[in-house]
Amino acid sequence: MRILSGCQPSGKLHIGNYFGAIRQYVDFQHKGHGLYFIADLHALTTIRDPRKMAELSRSVALDYLALGLDPEKATLFKQSDIPEVCELSWILSTVTPMGLLERAHSYKDKVAHGISPDHGLFAYPVLMAADILIYHSDLVPVGKDQKQHVEITRDIAVKFNQTYCPKFDPGTGKGGALKLPESFIQDDTAVVPGIDGQKMSKSYGNTIEIFASDNEVKKKIMAIKTDSTPVEAPKDPDKCNVYALLKLFAAKDELKAIREQYTKGGVGHGDFKKKLLEFFHRAFDGARAKHTELIKNEDYVNDVLRKGAERARAIATPVMDEVRRVTGLR
Ligand code: ADP
Ligand code: TRP
Repeated sequence: MRILSGCQPSGKLHIGNYFGAIRQYVDFQHKGHGLYFIADLHALTTIRDPRKMAELSRSVALDYLALGLDPEKATLFKQSDIPEVCELSWILSTVTPMGLLERAHSYKDKVAHGISPDHGLFAYPVLMAADILIYHSDLVPVGKDQKQHVEITRDIAVKFNQTYCPKFDPGTGKGGALKLPESFIQDDTAVVPGIDGQKMSKSYGNTIEIFASDNEVKKKIMAIKTDSTPVEAPKDPDKCNVYALLKLFAAKDELKAIREQYTKGGVGHGDFKKKLLEFFHRAFDGARAKHTELIKNEDYVNDVLRKGAERARAIATPVMDEVRRVTGLR
């Protein structure tokens, strides 16, 4: 089984990225061949400062390694190191109906949040389809916000296969030049809320970054938006942003006790935030220490990405050859 996914280097990785996606990358690297990349071409839709782009790409690579991706097991690489992806993206765009992209929620959300609606942002799902299809990926672990993009990828692959592969059977997905992928979404962490209660996202400024300084993490956790229920009053855990985050970290028995404290009253939001801070450090301090070590080892990270790109390219090459053959380009 080939598993593929990636995060954009449009900011520092946060706990939404971890619980929604990266934790699954780590689990899946033991179950098949994982290909995990840094989606720098996608991040060009929001990052226009070259120094920031280089720095953030590097930072995502470091974060992947510190969080437990093992370059001996999984292939880690930068999207832009595989130029064939852009070639495939163009070829796919010629079979992609406009309506398919016009219905994309992510595009509409980003424009509503003030990101400029240029062609790159509109064509974003086609590049993502190329990322997935060029490696004949079987499974794509992502957060819920990316589910529709994987569905669009399947639609584009079907359209391509129907156009160019006479033996393609859309019922079984067999006989095409491009394999139809499935998304994998972990239900209980599908949408991690940010400190303002909206979906946590690098582009919304509401994140808790995994590798921020102790002070910064504390500041962010203490700033989580809560209602003004007094300390002594019972509180509804299911309406509380702090509880939604506590749920990600707590063991079953811990969560049961926390839930009781909410419903009984007598514990304030500040105390629940302190608990969350404690859980954060328990979960991430190991990775944070590894991160500090990796920062000192620039050559190692560069080497991992170089070898990863070679491996990824070796998988992409025969798929591209077939695409060029069936389209008559070569
Ligand atoms: P961001 O929205 O912060 O820019 P990306 O778009 O780079 O994050 O997402 C990288 C991965 O993390 C994707 O699989 C995405 O679905 C997942 N992800 C991002 N934010 C969340 C969240 N708040 N909850 C669950 N998963 C998320
Ligand atoms: N669009 C994804 C996101 O914003 C990042 C991404 C780009 C991706 N290409 C991909 C994820 C291919 C999975 C597979 O989160």
